[in-house]
Amino acid sequence: MTTDRAELTKTHAWKNLESHAQKARGLSIRKLFSDDSSRGARMAIEADGIYFDYSKHLVTDETVRLLLQLAEESALRDRIEAMFRGDKINLTEKRAVLHVALRAPKGQSILVDGKDVVPEVHAVLDKMAGFAERVRSGAWKGHTGKRIRSVINIGIGGSDLGPVMAYEALRHYSARDMNFRFVSNVDGTDFAEATHDLSPEETLFIISSKTFTTLETMTNAHTAREWALKGLKDESAVAKHFVAVSTNETEVGKFGIDTANMFGFWDWVGGRYSMDSAIGLSTMIAIGPDNFRSMLNGFHRMDEHFRRAPFDRNLPVIMGLLGIWYNNFFGAQTAAVLPYEQYLKRFPAYLQQLTMESNGKHVTREGQAVNYQTGPIYWGEPGTNGQHSFYQLIHQGTKLIPCDFIGFMEPLNPLGRHHDLLIANVFAQSEALAFGKTVEEVKAEGTPDWLVPHRTFEGNRPSTTILMEKLTPETLGTLVALYEHSVFTQGAIWDIDSFDQWGVELGKALAVRIIPELENKAAGPMKHDSSTNTLIARYVNSKK
Ligand code: F6P
Repeated sequence: MTTDRAELTKTHAWKNLESHAQKARGLSIRKLFSDDSSRGARMAIEADGIYFDYSKHLVTDETVRLLLQLAEESALRDRIEAMFRGDKINLTEKRAVLHVALRAPKGQSILVDGKDVVPEVHAVLDKMAGFAERVRSGAWKGHTGKRIRSVINIGIGGSDLGPVMAYEALRHYSARDMNFRFVSNVDGTDFAEATHDLSPEETLFIISSKTFTTLETMTNAHTAREWALKGLKDESAVAKHFVAVSTNETEVGKFGIDTANMFGFWDWVGGRYSMDSAIGLSTMIAIGPDNFRSMLNGFHRMDEHFRRAPFDRNLPVIMGLLGIWYNNFFGAQTAAVLPYEQYLKRFPAYLQQLTMESNGKHVTREGQAVNYQTGPIYWGEPGTNGQHSFYQLIHQGTKLIPCDFIGFMEPLNPLGRHHDLLIANVFAQSEALAFGKTVEEVKAEGTPDWLVPHRTFEGNRPSTTILMEKLTPETLGTLVALYEHSVFTQGAIWDIDSFDQWGVELGKALAVRIIPELENKAAGPMKHDSSTNTLIARYVNSKK
């Protein structure tokens, strides 16, 4: 059943959830568990190498039933099919949204404007693989005949966060005789620190930018060119030390990179969904083409699951719905992502762009103001470090923060008791959040009365535990796709365009106006507000 999309809060499912939430706010996770000894095993889904335990949530079977009803009434199934079919579901940019095509196996067919895009995807993958092999083996030589030892990806947003997250996540599988660095910030420190100990003769720059016009990336790319040519002293060296990843062949040519050294992708790949495209070139050089393909395979497994599994066993759907439950019916403002895996240290930062650039929207796809909350704030850090930093607030603060705990059964670096201690902490934290510690329990420990309130844990704080066997290229792919599709699920229900990002434009345009004012090249007097005018004047004076 399709609803009038501007009327989300008037749907049956939404109204039912609202009245159900009144009662659910009184739920006790302790009681839910004591009333049902099978809850822990029952409220878990196992699929594609992921064990997804959602039993420690403030939900009953009725909650899940109503959330699934919301998914049905929001025509989620149709939306999923529209994406996989290549419909232009990014309405404001009139584009298809086909990151799923980037990991479609050879032989599958996905049409955009009547053209099958899968053969092109594989042609680019093959070209990337050939190049990656040459760089890894040393067959690709720099201008002076030396092999490449350092690869620097220059990009920002989706052209940086995916590559750096994947490199860090899969560092265990990477070529250890090479350096991989990532420059994103227009702050010159980023470039200076990334290159200070490198030789231009042995350095390859990958300029990654979908548009090839992004201010930060182009500024860093020009600085890189100057840095390389200062050492190599010959314009023709650019061909051996610079490659481009972009959809914009014209701009790549203008920059001076031979378009034979360009790896393309397509406008139907959103920046934050691009780590599987040629934007992943640095990842492929780091881990090798076979590992890269197995990462794609992991993504594809989750794509298939999302497309085909019934909603009540569908991991991204259930995950997305649980997020909606807290965001829209419990007033939760944020969600924490807590990987207990040091290699996933950039995963929360990656997810911030994926989730917040996608679902930080204030109007529906048709442009009507929403009268409900959309995307929550995502944040997090690897455990156990976060435990000694912000977990206090999650346990005893006044805010409800649903958490995702992510753990792996098998360590990549087995060292004494480390892994058991790490995993003990995953389980202990979710247990403490859910069940807390009652006044009676605290008193029974002999705690003096005045200290009892401080040592009491309310509990009843929801979390999901995501367990996987081992962090590999394939499991990383599956995990990232789980979040991608959960973001999709939420965007579909909120009826927003999860694939545009107009909110970043105003700041960019204002910066372009301010730059000449800082450089004393502005045509007339400054016309900002009195605060901005004063700040600019202060900076300009300090330069004198
Ligand atoms: O400013 C936001 C954004 O457009 C992101 O969506 C994108 O990932 C990033 O900038 C970088 O864009 P590009 O790859 O075109 O340089």
